[in-house]
Amino acid sequence: MAAKLVVSHVWKRLGELQVLEDITLEVSEGEFVAIVGPSGCGKTTFVRLVHGLIPADQGEVRVNGKVIDRPGAQRGFVFQADSLLPWRNVWSNAFVGLEVNGWTTESHRESVSSLLKLVGLQGFERYYPRQLSGGMRQRVNLARALAVDPELLLMDEPFAALDAQTREIMQAELLRIWNSKRKTVLFVTHQIEEAVYLADRIIVLRHRPGRIKETISVDLPRPRSLEVKRTPQFTSHVDRIWKLIEEEVRDHSREEKQF
Ligand SMILES: Nc1ncnc2c1ncn2[C@@H]1O[C@H](COP(=O)(O)OP(=O)(O)O)[C@@H](O)[C@H]1O
Ligand SMILES: [Mg+2]
Repeated sequence: MAAKLVVSHVWKRLGELQVLEDITLEVSEGEFVAIVGPSGCGKTTFVRLVHGLIPADQGEVRVNGKVIDRPGAQRGFVFQADSLLPWRNVWSNAFVGLEVNGWTTESHRESVSSLLKLVGLQGFERYYPRQLSGGMRQRVNLARALAVDPELLLMDEPFAALDAQTREIMQAELLRIWNSKRKTVLFVTHQIEEAVYLADRIIVLRHRPGRIKETISVDLPRPRSLEVKRTPQFTSHVDRIWKLIEEEVRDHSREEKQF
């Protein structure tokens, strides 16, 4: 399949810190890729770089063959932090990405309504963010990101602030929605189970500086229901990644003791 996203030899320093070192990665059209790694290893930096919010020091990021050098409407972004506008209702929050691009025809409006239905918010269009639960707010964020029909959906720990049960429901919901839209997804998480449940492929990053430690294909059949989490196949994937990350954390803490 055609490569949707090509990251070649990307390096990034922030202040004194070498955060990313020589990251090379290809993501196919419609593929769901998760990025995992210890806290502070550069996951957010990487996804911001792919979005075009920050430039690479060396190397380049291409989407559909085009070099990314600024944030673009064609890349939907769902953050961990709630980024809804409190003075706008659900419908108008989901519409905001289209609006800023001047995409405000009747068919754009209809697409917002049908996306809100897809994410399970039909009937809540006139609610304000303060009237919604955390899970519902992330549903609005997802609808907003999808509304611009992005060529790439970037998600940075979007469910991290949710309680465990809501988080599981949102994972299953995300797969259901992804299945109907087949967007190319780059999903950052530090939760290994979440990565295994969602992704076709998992990129494990090393501790600082962030380098790719290993790439793991998740061969669990789709569609995946939450029950898949109780299968031995699932558990063995989780254990394997857990060991990789544990190694990183252990090696790093040994390093710190030497100084
Ligand atoms: N603007 C910045 N200036 C200097 N260092 C930064 C900046 N932003 C993040 N960092 C550092 O870069 C490293 C990677 O951060 P980040 O990409 O947020 O990691 P992650 O998302 O994996 O937890 C961290 O050590 C963080 O403290
Ligand atoms: Mg982060």
